[in-house]
Amino acid sequence: MASKVTLSLIKADVGGYVGHARMHPDLMAEAARALEKHTHAGTLIDFRVLACGDDVGLLMSHDQGNDSNKIHQLAWNVFEDCTEVARKLKLYGAGQDLLADAFSGNIRGMGPGVAEMTFLERKSEPFLVFFADKTSAGAWNLPLFRMFADPFNTIGLVISPAMHEGYRFEVYDVKGNRKIVLDTPEQMYDLLVFIGAPGRYMVRNVYTKSGEIAATSSTERLALIAGRYVGKDDPVCIVRSQSEFPAVGEVLEPFTMPHIVEGWMRGSHYGPLMPCRVSEAHPSRFDGPPRVIGLGFQLANGKLVGPQDMFDDPSFDESRRLCNVIADHLRRHGPFEPHRLPMEEMEYTTLPQVMAKLEDQWQSLDGHKTDKTKEKRVAAH
Ligand code: F6R
Ligand code: MG
Ligand code: MG
Repeated sequence: MASKVTLSLIKADVGGYVGHARMHPDLMAEAARALEKHTHAGTLIDFRVLACGDDVGLLMSHDQGNDSNKIHQLAWNVFEDCTEVARKLKLYGAGQDLLADAFSGNIRGMGPGVAEMTFLERKSEPFLVFFADKTSAGAWNLPLFRMFADPFNTIGLVISPAMHEGYRFEVYDVKGNRKIVLDTPEQMYDLLVFIGAPGRYMVRNVYTKSGEIAATSSTERLALIAGRYVGKDDPVCIVRSQSEFPAVGEVLEPFTMPHIVEGWMRGSHYGPLMPCRVSEAHPSRFDGPPRVIGLGFQLANGKLVGPQDMFDDPSFDESRRLCNVIADHLRRHGPFEPHRLPMEEMEYTTLPQVMAKLEDQWQSLDGHKTDKTKEKRVAAH
């Protein structure tokens, strides 16, 4: 019987060059050297070292299944080795996303973002990897909805017998620490109740109605793990394509509408998610705007054939141009909402430290000194 293959995509920001703009080639070489060793030792079938902005991503194929201790430990060690290189080069924020002092069993909840899926490789297995910088987990909600539930995006939902049944969405409530499973098209409106609020509800997995994994995304929120601002999540996502899944073009189509995501400068602003070529995945303007790369692969007995740079296509030029227009307009708002995030989201930035300094200067509108609780309540709104 054929055995299943697992794709693990584990990413972290372990040092930026220059500032938070991009990944230094020495870190990528270090990661490749370490993963090569594990491939020779037989732990991995294949790997690719990916980068978007200041984040490095380890795409690994293996037969250890999801949440494997061995694979997570291996990724953690690679990030530690890369951190060493970053320290030597005095890169910015060396070791930034390694929130724990040491590895303990599972890398989830320790800082890095994780997207994993295990399946039986099909006769031909095309899949796409998306990797974003300067934005949060939850940024995939809108594109995943479009790919798997919106017939205006995915015509296969209407005309392909292999897709007409629709899909099953597994949604995480990352603040409530719970999850819900909703079917489309039957529960499409219920699904939108939640995933329209991507700061809290995130599409973790999409399945076919028969239970086959179709897409998975990293939902780790650094601020919730650390309880303070330590950089943005810069999430990753894997989508299987063709046949019973959306065609490659249907998977890419949502990115022609640059949707507005949170992140950008100091993780504190809304901005358009720009689909860009790998060679352009180095955010600089106002530390952004947020961007996403799309990489296409074929699997051949667990070996990774690719990547193909899917946004290296002039048909995305207009989306990029629109991003720049939206970015210009939002930037003109400067420190004002809705460019700046609402107060509730700013709680996880450095703003509360500044507000705390001003607390004693507040005076009651009734002419009395305000009580601290009330001050806090007012300040939070
Ligand atoms: C956003 C990001 C950057 C930094 C900014 C300030 O995800 O990483 O926009 O927040 O460059 O960085 P520090 O505070 O490290 O000087
Ligand atoms: Mg960084
Ligand atoms: Mg980053």
